[in-house]
Amino acid sequence: MTKHIAVLVGSKSQTSVNQRLAKHLQKIAPPSLQLTLVDIGDLPLYDRDLDTQDVPAYTRVRDAIKQADGVIWVTPEHNGSYSAMIKNAIDVISRPAGQSLWIGKPLGLASANASGSNRAVDALRVIASGTYINMPVCPFAGVIGGIFAGAFDDNGELVSEQAKNTLQGFMSAFDEFMAKF
Ligand SMILES: Cc1cc2nc3c(=O)[nH]c(=O)nc-3n(C[C@H](O)[C@H](O)[C@H](O)COP(=O)(O)O)c2cc1C
Repeated sequence: MTKHIAVLVGSKSQTSVNQRLAKHLQKIAPPSLQLTLVDIGDLPLYDRDLDTQDVPAYTRVRDAIKQADGVIWVTPEHNGSYSAMIKNAIDVISRPAGQSLWIGKPLGLASANASGSNRAVDALRVIASGTYINMPVCPFAGVIGGIFAGAFDDNGELVSEQAKNTLQGFMSAFDEFMAKF
């Protein structure tokens, strides 16, 4: 049976390498996984007062997570951590209080950044362990670096063999991980 995976990307830049990374994951996903990119770039900044209002963008992303069997968070590294855009989506989907949609959903983590560091995904692991998030996390994260050295070509296709291997490894590990749920 095919499992549905919602992919949230914490950058909406026209030239985002993380968007490219997510599209590459979509391309290499096995038949057991169907990856859908969920736009989080239009979410108003989370504010508790919005819990009691009709915010169509919040409803759209919450519905997407409700329907997903699993999730992948893809983020750039911003000043040593995840981007504000991905954190905003995490907060929106964890609320209203007592109605977090994250709890128990299996999670994969990926990041493309300049240095190839794991800081952004490691910070996300801490968030995933929080009481109102509480998601099991695939141990293998898909982190690629050196993005300015031409990992992607002008058409947005991944051309670095090293990065391809890393993301293939991540996808295989995530597929095995998802099979447990
Ligand atoms: C505000 C900001 C902070 C950044 N901080 C880091 C950092 O701490 N480590 C790193 O490797 N790259 C850092 N970068 C570089 C990003 O990883 C790089 O711009 C990457 O392209 C962002 O992903 P995107 O193309 O998907 O937006 C930073 C970029 C921005 C805009």
